[in-house]
Amino acid sequence: HGSPLKGIRGHILTFKANPALHDDAEGCYDFHDDGLIVIQDGYIVDAGDYSAIAPAYPQMRDIDMYADAVVMPGFVDCHTHYVQSPMIGSYGETLLDWLERYAYPTESRMADKQSADETAREFFRQTLSQGTTTANVFATTYATSVNAFFEESERYNTRMICGKVLQDRNLPEALKDPSAEESIAVAGELLEKWHRRGRQLYAVIPRFAPTSSPRQLQLAGELYQRHIDTGVYLHTHLNESQNEIEWVRELFPGMADYTDVYRHFGLVDRMTVMAHCCIMGENEWQTLHDCGCGVAHCPSSNLFLGDGEFDYREAVKRSRPVRTGIGSDTGGGTSFSIPRQLGEAYKVAMLHGCGLSALKSFYMATRGGAEALRLENTIGSIAPGFEADMAVVDLRPSEFVGWRMKYAATVFEKLAVIASLGPDNLIRATYVAGRKVYDRDRGQKWMYA
Ligand code: GUN
Ligand code: ZN
Repeated sequence: HGSPLKGIRGHILTFKANPALHDDAEGCYDFHDDGLIVIQDGYIVDAGDYSAIAPAYPQMRDIDMYADAVVMPGFVDCHTHYVQSPMIGSYGETLLDWLERYAYPTESRMADKQSADETAREFFRQTLSQGTTTANVFATTYATSVNAFFEESERYNTRMICGKVLQDRNLPEALKDPSAEESIAVAGELLEKWHRRGRQLYAVIPRFAPTSSPRQLQLAGELYQRHIDTGVYLHTHLNESQNEIEWVRELFPGMADYTDVYRHFGLVDRMTVMAHCCIMGENEWQTLHDCGCGVAHCPSSNLFLGDGEFDYREAVKRSRPVRTGIGSDTGGGTSFSIPRQLGEAYKVAMLHGCGLSALKSFYMATRGGAEALRLENTIGSIAPGFEADMAVVDLRPSEFVGWRMKYAATVFEKLAVIASLGPDNLIRATYVAGRKVYDRDRGQKWMYA
């Protein structure tokens, strides 16, 4: 009865528990060598071994079959800037230098609706073609940049988080909010317009402490606290580089640390997501744990800007673990691909002398990211009741990689190779709320819902 069923058949991988926090690796995931996902009305209604569950759905006609591919939950990108897509890969000496030379001028162009629309269209195409189905995204100062993003997200019916960036000092005039009060009024209107409209979710986004006046941070905290119970986010940057930290200390004297600046204004709470967290004091990790915040590890950006590195082992310390996901941070990051971020995260972990298994890294890319965004009961798993967002990861994206896979035994050995080599054309298809919105092997690759 009801609307038609759709099936996806292939290898299926999904996660149940964080392997950083449990010694029983086998208990952290489900892998079905010949699996079936049953979808109805955008939700997963069943998933498991094909032979076990297929007989219960004799009426199911529409089944997409994938050989040599792993169907996984769509990747979750916990921190990115869609408005920086036009300047990805620009050379910068340091974070602060790179912001002045590339990020701010590019973002200034997004007051123009046509530029914002075109950039949103390209961002979604790149993001979906890398298997990412949810992202936590900075727009910029202008309402046009927020509307352009959510309008494109609605066309695909993706579950996305975005918001107006609040920034009223220490940046070029064109990007500066005219006043703290006006900036919060505009953010409040955008929140009312977009939060929970379809699958869209709103974030209050002070760019970072140096570009907001104390008054703006105060009002941002009030707006966030008024709406936190409806799942509105607070998204910002924290402790990315040494210069930045010193600047914050000068601008906010008397605070214990950078985290304390945000906490002072009511910004550190359970719907808060902090990007970077590279240069952290023990008290700061403890605060993020106590307050239930999420953090976004952005390895390609940290390596590209060269100012700091995330310490995964500290983040997931069992005495005070912090919800940890992966962020591409484009344009500071150099790729839209979450698997490529995992390859970089592996190298950063190696420099810290701890390593990062594919079990742990693909957890962060899916269910871990959902946890960082407090969406772990909604997205990030292939199980009944979850929204049907999936990435089909090709184990034969090229002749060579296909050949190489003959020498990898388990699915995690194969995924380690995928993360480390970061092959092109990795994603065969991307599903959003049960609909295929990206198909690598079709002439028309992207399809609105
Ligand atoms: N800190 C403040 N703004 C930015 C930004 O746009 N990118 C990065 N990587 N860090 C920031
Ligand atoms: Zn960023």
